[in-house]
Amino acid sequence: MRRFVIQLAMTLSFLLGVPSAFGAGRQTSANPLVWDAMTKKYSATETEAKHEFIFTVKNSGNNEVIIRAVQPSCGCTIAKLPKTPWPLQPGESGDVSAVVNFDEKTGTFTKLLTVVSTAGNQILNMELSVPVTEASMNRAKNRETSITNRQAVFQQDCAKCHVQPAIGKTGEDLYKAACAICHESPHRASMVPALNDLNKKTYPTYWKYWMVNGGHHLMPAFAKTKGGFLTDEQIDSLVTYLDKKFPSPSVIKPFSEK
Ligand code: HEC
Ligand code: HEC
Repeated sequence: MRRFVIQLAMTLSFLLGVPSAFGAGRQTSANPLVWDAMTKKYSATETEAKHEFIFTVKNSGNNEVIIRAVQPSCGCTIAKLPKTPWPLQPGESGDVSAVVNFDEKTGTFTKLLTVVSTAGNQILNMELSVPVTEASMNRAKNRETSITNRQAVFQQDCAKCHVQPAIGKTGEDLYKAACAICHESPHRASMVPALNDLNKKTYPTYWKYWMVNGGHHLMPAFAKTKGGFLTDEQIDSLVTYLDKKFPSPSVIKPFSEK
C-alpha cells in the first residue's frame, strides 16, 4: 500500500509537470537525492542469466542525507550500497549496484528498488527484456512435466540428456553427467540450489539421502529402488566424491548475510 501511494505520488507529480531535476526523468521535486535515471532498461541476450544495474546518486541539497537501505522488490535482486547506513554530504555522489537474476524468466518485466533515506523514499525501476527462445520454451515445458512427475526426467526423450550421458559412470564423471546438468547450469531454475553454497552442515548420509530419495520439488530420486537409474555402487561413489568436493562449511552464515 505504501509503495502504491509513493508510486501514485510520483506519477501525479510527473503528470502535473513538476520540473524534474537535471532532466533525469521522474523525480520527486522535494528530494535532494538526484539519480542519473529513475528507470534503467536492459535487453538481455540468450546466454545471460543476470544483469547488474548501476544507479548513480548525488546529494544536490544543502544538508547531509543518509541512505538507510535499498530494498529490492523481489528475492531475485541483490542490491549493494557502498556502506549501510550511507551518509551523503551536500554535493557528494556515489553508486548503488543491483544485480537482478532472471534465470528462468522471459519477456519484459520491471523490478523495483525502494531507496529509504532521511529525505524520504524513492523508487528506482529496472526494466528487463529477456528474449523468448526455443530453449527457454523447452525449459519451461520440461519443468512443468517434472512438477507433475519428478521421475519423468529419466524417461522417454528426457533420458537423452538426463540419463544416457551418465550410464556406467562413477564418481566425478557421474557427478558431471547426472548432477551438474541441473545444479551447475547458469540457466537453472531458481529452485535448483548451488551445491557449493548450501550454507548448511553436510555429511555422507546427507548426500546419500538426497540422491536416493530426491526432493519435494523437481529433484528426482536416483536410486534404482526408487524409480531412478543409479546402482548402490554408483551412489556410494558419488557420496565419496561429493563429501570431498563440497565439504561442510566451517561457518554457517546467518540468513541475513546470504
Ligand atoms: C537437450 C537436453 C535436455 C533434454 C532433452 C531435457 N533436459 Fe532437462 N535440463 C537440461 C539442461 C541443460 C538443464 C539445466 C538448465 C538449462 O540450462 O536449461 C536441465 C534442467 C532440468 C530441470 C531443472 C529445472 C531447471 O529448469 O533448471 C528439470 C526439472 C528438467 N531439466 C526436466 C526435464 C524433463 C522432464 C525433460 C523431458 C520432458 C527434460 N528435462 C529434457 C537438458 C535437457
Ligand atoms: C532435474 C534437475 C536435478 C538433477 C538432475 C539433480 N538435482 Fe539435486 N536438486 C534439484 C532441485 C530442484 C533441488 C531443490 C530441492 C527439491 O527439489 O526439493 C535439488 C536439491 C538437491 C540437494 C539438497 C540441497 C539442500 O538444500 O539441502 C542435494 C544435496 C542435491 N540436490 C544433490 C544432487 C545430486 C548429488 C545430484 C546428482 C546425482 C542431483 N542433485 C541431481 C534438481 C536436480
